[in-house]
Amino acid sequence: MRLGSIIVLVALCSFTAYYIYEPIPEEIEERWKLMLTNSFFRTVSHLADLSEFLGLKDYMGVMYIITVVEKIAPVSDEHVKVTEEKFDGVEVVLYQPKLQEGNNDLRRAVIYLHGGGWCLGSSRMSPYDLLARKMVTELDAVVLSVEYRLAPAHHFPVPYEDVHRVVKHFFQKRVLAQYSVDPGRVAVSGDSAGGNLAAAVSQQLQKEPGQPVTFKAQALIYPVLQALDLNTPSYQQNQDMPLLPRTLMVRFWSEYFTTDKALFRAMMANTHNSPESSTLLKFVNWSAFLPETFHSKYNYSAPVVAHGTRGDAGGMGEPSQSFADPRASPLLVPDADLRSLPKAYILTCEYDVLRDDGIMYATRLRAAGVEVTHEHYDTGFHGAVMFTVWPTDFLIARRMTNNYVKWLKENL
Ligand SMILES: *[C@@H]1O[C@H](CO)[C@@H](O)[C@H](O)[C@H]1NC(C)=O
Ligand SMILES: *[C@@H]1O[C@H](CO)[C@@H](O)[C@H](O)[C@H]1NC(C)=O
Repeated sequence: MRLGSIIVLVALCSFTAYYIYEPIPEEIEERWKLMLTNSFFRTVSHLADLSEFLGLKDYMGVMYIITVVEKIAPVSDEHVKVTEEKFDGVEVVLYQPKLQEGNNDLRRAVIYLHGGGWCLGSSRMSPYDLLARKMVTELDAVVLSVEYRLAPAHHFPVPYEDVHRVVKHFFQKRVLAQYSVDPGRVAVSGDSAGGNLAAAVSQQLQKEPGQPVTFKAQALIYPVLQALDLNTPSYQQNQDMPLLPRTLMVRFWSEYFTTDKALFRAMMANTHNSPESSTLLKFVNWSAFLPETFHSKYNYSAPVVAHGTRGDAGGMGEPSQSFADPRASPLLVPDADLRSLPKAYILTCEYDVLRDDGIMYATRLRAAGVEVTHEHYDTGFHGAVMFTVWPTDFLIARRMTNNYVKWLKENL
């Protein structure tokens, strides 16, 4: 009996250790903490798969638990006034510096877009709340954190359009004046899918004739920037890396457009391109846009193009083709559309499937004459900026946040 329990205990422990242990590169700091954190995410992901398989609740519905556990009610403190508003029907959390008596100076503003693959996340999660407060106090800025609607309930272009509506609303002279914002000192920023939305809205705004106010800067934290080639060297190198394995990123991409699993399967195989989208592959040619060190171990081959024997793009309908829309894939525009963009800060991480998206955008923006600050973290992993709250606080998150805010201080 005693022996039996010991055997069970040992088996349980080795199973747990086996489950938690993952081959995480030695260079990454606080590896065990990252393994534990990631095992929580993987557990939720497995439960989400199971739940969807059993027909209980869809995958993203279960994954949203990760967002819920970190949600807080944003409240004012001694330095920051926090209110929840609606800008043209879209929810925003507005952070303002508390007014000092007799200070009528106009301030900076940052429109912040949270990450979560367009399917998860919220501006009310505590790491985003903390980041917003840090920006308010260190930059004396108004921070607008946008609660855009999420896929799969709201597919593309709804999340993008929500962001665009908020920006247009905020950029009215009357509204900027109401919050004492200097129209020449507004930045757009976001992490991951939020970086995607930030890059996309910067591009679209430049194209709108008669738009009186534009962004002074765009700050993109490990942004997602293209859905055409999901086998870049960073996708290959980091396909099993925490916290964003390739499967999950592909899942986010496909769910952004459609719930039809055919797109997910085609994207997993990197065979989702149609003859039309393939004409844009030149904009994401990693053998041309990545510095040698990032691609020398890989031989370039262009993604396979599905020729419509089963109808358009292998039987996938119109919504699936949106992945080639620059509002979803901001890398897919010609150089002429990049030239007038605001100066950019781009943060990339070595251990991130999205590394090459960010590096390629840095290359292309620079080639088009845009001022770019590219910060690459050799020991960075995707999602790191979020880990500022105990018990999942990482040193690298603090370094990244400080450098990012420093850049805004000097450039906005
Ligand atoms: C990608 O760039 C390489 C040169 O770096 C070139 O040989 C190749 O034809 C390009 N392919 C596409 C699809 O643009
Ligand atoms: C790339 O191509 C070269 C030359 O054909 C070959 O020797 C090498 O093994 C290839 N590398 C990979 C990673 O496929």
